[in-house]
Amino acid sequence: MRHFLRDDDLTPAEQGAVLELAQRMKAAPYDAKPLAGPRTVAVLFDKPTLRTQSSFAAGIAELGGFPMVIDANLARVGVRESIADTARVLGRQASAIVWRTFDQSRIEEMAANAGVPVVNALTDQFHPCQTLADLLTVKEHRGDLAGQTLVFLGDAASNMGHSYLLAGALAGMHVRVSAPSGFAPDPAVLARAQAIAAQTGGSASVVADPKAAAEGADVLATDTWISMGKEEQEAERLSAFLPWQLGDDLLAAARDDAIVLHCLPAYRGKEITASVIDGPRSVVWDEAENRRHAQKALLAWLLEHTDE
Ligand code: CP
Repeated sequence: MRHFLRDDDLTPAEQGAVLELAQRMKAAPYDAKPLAGPRTVAVLFDKPTLRTQSSFAAGIAELGGFPMVIDANLARVGVRESIADTARVLGRQASAIVWRTFDQSRIEEMAANAGVPVVNALTDQFHPCQTLADLLTVKEHRGDLAGQTLVFLGDAASNMGHSYLLAGALAGMHVRVSAPSGFAPDPAVLARAQAIAAQTGGSASVVADPKAAAEGADVLATDTWISMGKEEQEAERLSAFLPWQLGDDLLAAARDDAIVLHCLPAYRGKEITASVIDGPRSVVWDEAENRRHAQKALLAWLLEHTDE
């Protein structure tokens, strides 16, 4: 049984195959119906969402399936009953389970007991569906991923920081993350990304100075400085992260044809300026749309590989 709990649950070749399938599905969005029946996919969110819920619901419908969006306030996974029992029940109703939750251990427990593929729709540690969509967006705008430099500015200890390291390394990219002191990535994730990069020809590094990190970048990416669950740290984070704000100065350090990613929701004047996110290098609306295409390809690929 194959799951997608973190970016490196796909090999480099498998990631490439999913991205190619996503490009084909984007070109002909109503042709492939691997969920015809309709087969049901359970979709649950323990945290707020707009893009992830809407893109999974629309994508599952386009694949010929039924998105069973479950109210997590009613299900109360792990409170009303155990994660394992929830997994056993949902696995009898659905062909796959998509879940946004808190600690990675929760989704690992779901996957261990579901009997159907489980997809991480964001945990505290990883956001691999977002980075699949981001790589699809880079491929569309800048061509082959291998050898390109992707720079993430902001909280490198966050799920996006971790997923960029792993997903970029799998694609053979040079990934630089840059963050204030105290917001470095998990050393185990960085080491894993470096081990993958050694096989794919990419690299994964931490560059303290944001301008040095942005120098010559093909892709600049950022995310909110106040991730879900970190709201009580808002004042100290706003002050610590200010030099990492993605504004015209950092954009000027990148290549002339660099593109800008933001997984959204965005906070103009905080992690990114309006001039950048609403400017000509920004591809954030393509990025948001690509959630649907990338996740459709991922679901189709996982359901094709359930016997592995
Ligand atoms: N980027 C992202 O995951 O958006 P939502 O939190 O709105 O789903």
